[in-house]
Amino acid sequence: MRVTIAEIKEMKQRQEKIAMLTAYDYVTAKIIDEVGVPIILVGDSLGMVMLGYESTIPVTMEEMLHHTKAVVRGTNRALIVADMPFMTYHASMSEALRNAARFIQGGGAQVVKLEGGKIVADTVKRFVDCGIPVMAHIGLTPQSINQLGGYKVQGKTSELAKNLLKDARILEEAGAFSVVLECVPAPLARIITQSIDIPTIGIGAGPDCDGQVQVISDILGLFTEFIPRHAKQYAKLAPEMRNAVANYVAEVNSHSFPTMEHSFTMDESILESLETTS
Ligand code: KIV
Repeated sequence: MRVTIAEIKEMKQRQEKIAMLTAYDYVTAKIIDEVGVPIILVGDSLGMVMLGYESTIPVTMEEMLHHTKAVVRGTNRALIVADMPFMTYHASMSEALRNAARFIQGGGAQVVKLEGGKIVADTVKRFVDCGIPVMAHIGLTPQSINQLGGYKVQGKTSELAKNLLKDARILEEAGAFSVVLECVPAPLARIITQSIDIPTIGIGAGPDCDGQVQVISDILGLFTEFIPRHAKQYAKLAPEMRNAVANYVAEVNSHSFPTMEHSFTMDESILESLETTS
């Protein structure tokens, strides 16, 4: 039985922190699920860390669905949240609804995540009314990077801070079951967290959010092209991988791999019969 949105909301009530991680593939999702992480996000960050795009903007529905299905197959306990890609929930309500339904029905996710505040409130309400749980996402919203002009901390002026607080309340009112706060000053994230009943999940939003989310490739030290300030490396897998690959190549070149330990034998008499035939 998977974790439910009700259980996540109860975690806030019990003041139990929520550790969420992204995953994009079967093997990684399986490990994260086995550790007991309650929420796995198939983030559109996969555009950068899996597909080599410069931003999340080029990510398509098909790419997101492909990775969502792999993550769902690798897990049986975590609540799976799928990011709706850029412009798949803005053009019209019917298109937004159809796209969201693809994640739930075909993709196997339980929740979709939408970026934006007041502007997506009607969409959130409609999704929730139709039985599709929504995680909201405000603060730094990477799909609006061209509008924002860079990956910067949000809500630093009085007006912008008030807008973020207002957005969080509007999204709660619209029915979102939780809200990601990305790159929001810690004291503002604390005020937002205390002002709404749904859990806040922070990334670069300080220690007082109800939960935290990190990109798996960042915490494993796998994606080293750019290390955001809010990311903490709990391992350095990139150099370890480089080392393993170099050792493999060296052993193949020096004929020390494979040995018989990694090879298969066969019946001697069959071999002899082959020799006599030739
Ligand atoms: O795409 C993603 O990984 C995200 C998280 C950073 C919240 O949206």
